[in-house]
Amino acid sequence: MISEKMQKALNDQINAELFSSYIYLSMSAYFESENWTGFAAWMKKQSEEEYGHAMKIYKYVCEVAGRVSLESIEKPKFEWKSAQEVFEEAYKHELYITDRINKIVDLANSDKDHATNIFMNWFVTEQVEEVATVLQIIHKFKLIGDNKGALYMLDRELGSRA
Ligand code: FEO
Repeated sequence: MISEKMQKALNDQINAELFSSYIYLSMSAYFESENWTGFAAWMKKQSEEEYGHAMKIYKYVCEVAGRVSLESIEKPKFEWKSAQEVFEEAYKHELYITDRINKIVDLANSDKDHATNIFMNWFVTEQVEEVATVLQIIHKFKLIGDNKGALYMLDRELGSRA
């Protein structure tokens, strides 16, 4: 069993993960419109992963006899100035999600909710990986600068994401 407060926090996180899926899909659509097919594929894959995160929490809430409550998903941003700007926003978004995850762990600790604490550990680890991955990509953009050939290579590299 989970507390009402925890149920609300997990439902809010389902919404945040669905929004993550939505914003990354919007970023993918932006890249498609700019003919950056590799970046588009990377973001689409990220969008799918975020949907998976939402469903992981959804399944957990059901397992602990909670009630899933789906809310509206905010309209995501539509336009960006450059590929680098998109990844910088993705980075900021992941820091925001990390903060949210940490707050749920804090709540699990204060609730003495050991099951949710263990469940959320996976997300804590996942956030470390996601933040590091996006940061590495931003680093590559900074190295590339105005080199169009190198940017083309990065697009190809990210397009090979399994
Ligand atoms: Fe599900 Fe990228 O956080």
